Amino acid sequence: MKNGYLTVALTKGRLADKTLELFEKAGIRMDEMHDRDTRKLIFVNEEQKLRFFLAKGPDVPTYVEYGAADIGVAGSDIIMEEKRRVYEVLDLGFGKCRMCVAGPAETGDLLKHHEMIRVATKYPNIAREYFYNQKHQTVDIIKLNGSVELGPIVGLSDVIVDIVETGSTLRENELEVLEVVCPLSARMIVNQVSMQMDTERIRKLIAKLREVG
Ligand code: PRP
Repeated sequence: MKNGYLTVALTKGRLADKTLELFEKAGIRMDEMHDRDTRKLIFVNEEQKLRFFLAKGPDVPTYVEYGAADIGVAGSDIIMEEKRRVYEVLDLGFGKCRMCVAGPAETGDLLKHHEMIRVATKYPNIAREYFYNQKHQTVDIIKLNGSVELGPIVGLSDVIVDIVETGSTLRENELEVLEVVCPLSARMIVNQVSMQMDTERIRKLIAKLREVG
């Protein structure tokens, strides 16, 4: 907490609207953030002494670990991948999807027989944990930064490890879910020092969000 303000880092993109909705239900208004044309990066709610900013998903746990934000909202995929030292305090119940291994139907056999395969993903830590530690399968992990489904289509990889929400990206590209790694959803995370220093305020906020969520 700086100058009496709690700072909250929110994830840009898919989770942003649902997060705003939840905070507003909890009586925390963030009118300025609805203006899509604004280039402003930080928004202040003077009345409630809160500051909000939007960041790229993978950066949210970084801001929270270093205390630049006291609180963050990010997908559990990002939290698992980034492995930052933060407290995960609440499942916000939206942004539900699954982390999956996907590929052309015929690659299912390569998975069963523990072949040395190539895996394209934005989530190398999650892929490594899944294949190496859970499945005890040695694979070659290739990091991509988006449109991961291209991997098996153009022959970069055999399969992908990626988020599946509606499944339409896979369907439209003739790929299938081959294995489910884990379910995912939006989570609230808290800086470890802030949790000690501002326990009461943060606990109240958690309770309020849980109540309206
Ligand atoms: C995510 C994910 C899949 C897609 C899944 O990508 O990486 O590509 O959404 O959603 P669906 O099951 O509803 O089709 P995103 O749109 O975030 O873009 P990116 O691939 O460029 O990262």
